This record gives sequence, structure tokens and C-alpha cells, in this order.
Amino acid sequence: MNVAEILDGKHVCVCCGSGGVGKTTTSAAIALGMAARGAKVAVVTIDPANRLANALGLEQLGNEPRRVDPARLATGSLSVEGELWAMMLDPKRTFDELIDRIAPDPGRAEEIKANRVYRELSTAVSGSQELTAIAKLYELDQEHEFDVLVLDTPPSRNALEFLDAPNRINSFLEGRALKAFMKPTGFGFRTLGRGALPLLGGLRKITGLDLITDLTVFFGLLGDMTNDFSQRAAQVEQLLRAETTAFVLVTSAARESVDEAIWFSERLASDGLPFAGVIVNRVHHDLLGDREPHELSAALARTLAPSLAGRVADNFRDYHVLATRDDMNLSRLATQLDARRLLLVPQLDDDVHDIEGLARVHRYLFASQAERERLIEDLVA
Ligand SMILES: Nc1ncnc2c1ncn2[C@@H]1O[C@H](COP(=O)(O)OP(=O)(O)OP(=O)(O)O)[C@@H](O)[C@H]1O
Ligand SMILES: [Mg+2]
Repeated sequence: MNVAEILDGKHVCVCCGSGGVGKTTTSAAIALGMAARGAKVAVVTIDPANRLANALGLEQLGNEPRRVDPARLATGSLSVEGELWAMMLDPKRTFDELIDRIAPDPGRAEEIKANRVYRELSTAVSGSQELTAIAKLYELDQEHEFDVLVLDTPPSRNALEFLDAPNRINSFLEGRALKAFMKPTGFGFRTLGRGALPLLGGLRKITGLDLITDLTVFFGLLGDMTNDFSQRAAQVEQLLRAETTAFVLVTSAARESVDEAIWFSERLASDGLPFAGVIVNRVHHDLLGDREPHELSAALARTLAPSLAGRVADNFRDYHVLATRDDMNLSRLATQLDARRLLLVPQLDDDVHDIEGLARVHRYLFASQAERERLIEDLVA
């Protein structure tokens, strides 16, 4: 299988994974590949490396997708029939826009946005980046005509955090118990029972704030809006559960990542979310091929100065160790998951920071089985 087959008939592709595994890179490469195949695609990236952002033409700020200039796309080795649109998520702005949309009037929206608790909530509370990413996805789905939406997800400790984030925020906003005793009673907070204190302590931890009055005002301002939040959350959940949505996990071939991939697929299944496949990125393929390490040292010594030959041979050996490790972990992954849904992208010799780099990653993602084998052979040769 390849990404084109996995995304056949899909409208939304969410790329999850732990920090630094290549979510942003693969999201952009998937979007590029789908655009090359004629689709009108938008990719929502989160904090791409500067050079990648430049390559996609994202240096101007803006919280809406912009079409990547076809002239830029032409710098890659891929001809693009469709349209590639890209945006860099601005979580704060997305949160503000969400408030603008659900506030009953502009005055209330402004008051909320000026509130200190809101300012913390929209930037510092863990999960707010994930929440805004999903909110943006929903908005693009509702308001624009894209064939395919690809969502990169924020750097997090592990892939499951993305799935938990919206709930965390929702339960914070819904905190009915909290609201009940936050209601201004005329007696002020002196009337709070001891029982409320641990709860406030918890909240203090969440927001890093100690401002009970701001909280009261905040929940007062939110008023009935929390119902709209919940309603919206339900609609968003529908989008994430839709048959036309595909969750793709991006991982490395290291042991912990492989464990995480297995948990992730199990969690998606138990949450009823559509699991589409796993991209195993930066796989080390054994560059020694059938050669024994000592044969390599001998061959290198014939052409290189001894000290250099030694260092190169060491390098190959280290790589060989990594490749053997990756191979073992991948076999384990393949027995736990549907092996056809594993898509391997090798460790490339350079960072991926331009359209050509994306085109290279894309080649592995969209290759047929036979093509992939040929590409790997080329790599090893
Ligand atoms: N197959 C690859 N070969 C070589 N380098 C790669 C490959 N894939 C990604 N990289 C590089 O690895 C780094 C991390 O990639 P990327 O930013 O896409 O990861 P991420 O999962 O989005 O990270 P974060 O969790 O911080 O958002 C980048 O410098 C990227 O160029
Ligand atoms: Mg990233």
C-alpha cells in the first residue's frame, strides 16, 4: 500500500506522533503528493523549520491557507497537477477567532479576549495548541472547498496527547462544579468551603495563575458560551470520526516509538477513530548489503588513507547496528499491525527543508511496493 491508496476517498488526514519524528515533514510531503495527483490540498503545519516554511512560502503571517506558488513547486522534481495550499497555525489567533465566532456579540468577545484567564488558557494550558489545530481543521472543512485537508499536529511527548487534548480543555471549560461555586453569591469567596480549596489549587496548577477574581469574571463572561463550545466539540468529533477521515501515525523505528505506534492504533480502535496507517520515518537500511563488516574495511583500505578508511568503516558499522535494530523493531510492529499499512521512509542523507526534499520523502510514501524496493536498492547501492 502507499499513501495514495490509504487516502483514497478520504477528505481529512491527521498526522500524529511524538516530538521530532517527522510529522511536519511527512504532512507536507503527503499534501504535495496529493496535489501532484490533481487534488486541491491544504496542509496546516505547526511550527515548521524556517527553511521549510520559506519553501512553502509561509514567511508572511496569516492564519488562513495560501496557495503555494506553482513556480516554487516547479523547483522540485515533481510535476503538480492540482493545487497545494499551506498555512502555519497561529494557535492564539485561532483561539481568538473561535471566541469571535461563538460570542453573542463583539463586545463580549473583546471582554473575554482581554481577560487574563483567557489569555493564559489560550496559550499556556496544555492542550490548547491541539485544540486550535482541530478547530482550524473544522473551520477549513466548513468554509473552504478543498479536496484534501492534511493536519500536522503540535510537538508533544507522545501521540496520544493529541487525542486527549480536546477533552482536557472541554472539561476545564465545562467544569460545572467549578462554575457552581464561582457564581458570585454576594458573599464573595469567603463562603467557599474547605472542599473547594484543592480544586482551586488544581486550577492554579493548570493556568499558572492565582487569580480567583479573574476566574469568576471569566466564567461569568463565558456564560452560556460553554454550551456552544460543547456543541462545537461534538461537531468536530463527528469530523474526526468520519469515514472520510484518516489518522496516520508518524514514528521512528526505535523500540519506544514502535511500542507507542501499537498503543496508538489500539487507542484509535477503542475510541472508534479511523486508523489509516503508520509511517515509519528515518528508517536505517543496512547499507552493507550482503557484505560483512570486515570485507568493507578491507575494501575501503584499498582506496582511502588508513585513518579515514577506519573512520568510514566505523560509521558503516554503527549504521549496521542501527539498521539491525530497526529491522527487529519493524518485524515486531508488522506482527502487531496490518503490515500492509506500514510505510517506510529511509533516513535521508540531508534534512528535509525544501520542495525537492519533500519530493524525495513523497517518493517513498507514494511508491508502489515494487518501486519502493527499487528505491531502497538504489539507496543501498
Ligand atoms: N526521512 C528523513 N531523513 C532525514 N531527515 C529527516 C527525515 N524526516 C524528517 N527529517 C528531519 O528531521 C527533523 C524533524 O522533522 P519534523 O520537523 O518534520 O518533525 P516533527 O515531528 O514535526 O517535530 P516536532 O514534534 O518538533 O513538531 C527536521 O529537521 C527534518 O528535516
Ligand atoms: Mg512539527
